[in-house]
Amino acid sequence: MYLSREEEAIYQGEQGETLARMMEILVALGEIYGAEKLVPVRSVQIAGVSYKNIGEAGLEWISDLKGKVAVPSILNPAGMDLCRWKEMGIDEGFAEKQQQTIEAYRRLGVSIDCTCTPYQIYEGLAGPGDHLAWSESSAVSYANSVIGARTNREGGPSALAAALVGKTALYGYHLDENRRPTHLVEVRADLQGSDYGALGYLVGEKVKDGVPLFRLRGLRAAPGKDDLKALGASMAASGSVALYYVEDVTAAPPAWRALEKISLERKDIDDVYAANPGEGAVAVALGCPHCSAAELESIARLLKGHTVEKEMWVCTARKIADANPYLVRAIEGSGARVFCDTCMVVSPATESKEKMMVNSGKALVYLPGLAGVKAGFGSLEECVDVALGRRLE
Ligand code: F3S
Repeated sequence: MYLSREEEAIYQGEQGETLARMMEILVALGEIYGAEKLVPVRSVQIAGVSYKNIGEAGLEWISDLKGKVAVPSILNPAGMDLCRWKEMGIDEGFAEKQQQTIEAYRRLGVSIDCTCTPYQIYEGLAGPGDHLAWSESSAVSYANSVIGARTNREGGPSALAAALVGKTALYGYHLDENRRPTHLVEVRADLQGSDYGALGYLVGEKVKDGVPLFRLRGLRAAPGKDDLKALGASMAASGSVALYYVEDVTAAPPAWRALEKISLERKDIDDVYAANPGEGAVAVALGCPHCSAAELESIARLLKGHTVEKEMWVCTARKIADANPYLVRAIEGSGARVFCDTCMVVSPATESKEKMMVNSGKALVYLPGLAGVKAGFGSLEECVDVALGRRLE
């Protein structure tokens, strides 16, 4: 892989051991994937934040690094709400380790906004055509597909390497040739809200790491940003889709040739709900990916005047919660909790629950897979009904 003189000097250790180690990671990845060179990135989103996932070895590795990030860099969700962890049932030992992890990142100049939806809180992190090094799979999908930026799904170490060096290796979704659609997905159904999570759940399973192009027919309203967020998140979990297109909604794809065809209709979407009923759920978790202000507003509206009978978590970014205190108050007035900096999958607090009700296709895959918690899937309204102890039809 070609390195400029300056990059070569970093690689040789002329700017210290940390940067040399980071450059080694970038070069090793570049050589594995046949990258021609490094490319500057506009921003980085770093996974490997929850102490539940990184453990002591990860904490030591991050704590050993010296220097400051070269580009705006933001964290993925941590294992707990950094302020209200006691209310989540997190124990002191875990909380201390999690705070040490956050401090290690803070020393490196990383912004302590722990969220999988950085695009909801900072507009300047990514624009069309920008090269990025983002980690969290739903954020990667949103950046590539909705924003039109270019990023691979980085692991924690490679994202941190990109943050400290300010560059990433030029391969994968950074290149036009890998951004062509591989499947045409024709859907004949009116879709709303969690239907997009159900659709993504089905399509991710079928296309695996392909690039689907959706042709949506029969919609009463075009998908909004939260719908696209849910669609991409599900496909990244049931498959490993990092880029998709929606005809007449997202930017048009580069020229493509023959596509494998998939046809889906309303019954296919309904089957996802039917196969994952909410019976037996002891708690409800919303906000996967993290809620936008509009989603908080919908939840607040549904909870108004009610008291939840089951534990209910609403996960969002701290900046979204801070900017909407009246919505947080309205939701919490029902007894539900708005937790920031974390989520139902990366926090150890969910592991004690046998089954949770979710409205997210991604949580439907990851709660059982990564947290050992059974999941029921329903619309936002059904999730609120479960929390309120109402019987589902
Ligand atoms: Fe975000 Fe956690 Fe879901 S990181 S996408 S809320 S699994």
